[in-house]
Amino acid sequence: MNKKIGIFDSGIGGLTTLKEIKKILPNEDFIYYADSKNNPFGEKSKKELNIIVHNIVNELLKYDVKLIVIACNTVTTKFINLLRKDYPNILFVGVEPAIKVACDNNYKNILLMATPGTISSKRTKELINKNKKEDQNIYLVSCTGLANAIEINEKIRINKLLYKYLNVYKDKNIDSIVLGCTHYPIIKNKIKIYFPNSKIIDGNKGTAKRVKYLLEVNNLLNNSNKKGTTKFIQTKR
Ligand code: DGL
Repeated sequence: MNKKIGIFDSGIGGLTTLKEIKKILPNEDFIYYADSKNNPFGEKSKKELNIIVHNIVNELLKYDVKLIVIACNTVTTKFINLLRKDYPNILFVGVEPAIKVACDNNYKNILLMATPGTISSKRTKELINKNKKEDQNIYLVSCTGLANAIEINEKIRINKLLYKYLNVYKDKNIDSIVLGCTHYPIIKNKIKIYFPNSKIIDGNKGTAKRVKYLLEVNNLLNNSNKKGTTKFIQTKR
């Protein structure tokens, strides 16, 4: 079925998700909605974000998309259930912190970096309660300002924030870092400087596999063998 896949985030972060999806679904067409005007999502109240998210979904539906990817951990952890209820005829796939992956791989000292919205969500607590074993520690780092600094490419602010949030964990034998925000893979190399021997994990691969699976089982895969296209929409700050 040759309809587009809709995908959105508060700006460029979700491009890290889009990249993973394109690796396994190269023939699909996408429409990417970057709501840069409303970045950072992770520091908005639930009420404000609710309006923003419904507006984005309504915009994407104008393009008759066959599935919507929520390329944002903050929106997934807080709103995916509500969106599924409010739009029962559309398939939603989200990105959420890959806590399960880190726990299943038996890492012992796991650092979760995410927005304040994701860190404080019920879903994040659920993921920890469900997956963490007794001998595992999960350190929660609420990175206020970081997604926004990445969005507007403020290099000095990014470096200062990373120092502020990460330096205190340097002696904690951190063996894995879960990037619980789709903006963070963009600065993966800077994060690595603090923990050169740690495994960096994000949820994008899992999301890509889920998109493929849902398109397959619902008979919605694009059957063209041409390379897919991407249309970009960006709201301006
Ligand atoms: N990239 C998003 C996330 O994964 C949102 C970041 C933000 O706007 O705060 O949470």
